[in-house]
Amino acid sequence: MFNTEDKYAFGRDKKESERLNAQHKLLSRVTQHTLLHPSIPITKDDVLSIADIATGTGIWLEDVSKVLDKAQVKSYCHGFDISAEQFPEEKSENIQFSIQDITAPFPKEHWNRYDIVHVRLVIAAIGESDYKTAIDNISAILKPGGFLQWEEIDEETYISEDNPVIWEIRRCFDFSLKAEGKCFQASAKVASECTAAGFLDVLRLGYRSDATDDPHLRADTEQRLAAIMNTLYASLLLRSGQVPDGETASKRAGELVEQHHRLCAEGLSPPLTIMRVVAQKPLDAPL
Ligand SMILES: C[S@@+](CC[C@H](N)C(=O)[O-])C[C@H]1O[C@@H](n2cnc3c(N)ncnc32)[C@H](O)[C@@H]1O
Repeated sequence: MFNTEDKYAFGRDKKESERLNAQHKLLSRVTQHTLLHPSIPITKDDVLSIADIATGTGIWLEDVSKVLDKAQVKSYCHGFDISAEQFPEEKSENIQFSIQDITAPFPKEHWNRYDIVHVRLVIAAIGESDYKTAIDNISAILKPGGFLQWEEIDEETYISEDNPVIWEIRRCFDFSLKAEGKCFQASAKVASECTAAGFLDVLRLGYRSDATDDPHLRADTEQRLAAIMNTLYASLLLRSGQVPDGETASKRAGELVEQHHRLCAEGLSPPLTIMRVVAQKPLDAPL
């Protein structure tokens, strides 16, 4: 049931694809439907080219493409992922998909090609030392003056003064990610690597789920968090040897989910913060 072999800590079955798509809808609402940060210019004059790396089911790209279409902005979209398992079965005309590891150089045809590169949720997939290489690879495929937007659910997402479920998730993620050489401070790492690589106007911001006036967001956030406990939390417990087998991992996750539901019913519903980094490749970067 849990994936302990792959460097990537999640599975890639149909259920996981549904979870990613549901999570995307929630994240869009938390970021107040700004799929792209307003500082990223959208021009109507040319075809806007957008890459989404670690695209999963391609759900973000699909939504961005629809929004641009509505605004009559022509776009070319390309989704990359280390695995094709979750790529959509139905292909749309202006979205291409390719297998590509973010830590490996992209084929030459993609160099200096994209106005925007988007990455989301690779915290459980890449090692701390991979971030620098990933930023270099992204820089290579961005046009000079192009923008990177990278989003993570990381250490700053799980903060609560009074909720023991959040403390436990935080403890488990910190322990397990460290044990795998991964980085719980993902957005801070992305921002510092962007700065070191010479990107301009590096911006790191958090979107809080309790900062919107969406009346259903609280209940939906509670539900998504329970889904994370049943998947990533359980998987990390097992992968880092904190439990002996999958059955015990599921049991521990189930107990935590129950405790979560009890606390939410008492009004201790934890808000989540989605971290976003936006940065621009310099216009005078060498081609
Ligand atoms: C949690 S999913 C996020 C998917 C999508 N970005 C989203 O937000 O819905 C992480 C994705 O990263 C992909 N992945 C893992 N390691 C990767 C790597 N080294 N290079 C590119 N993609 C990778 C996985 O296959 C998976 O599709």
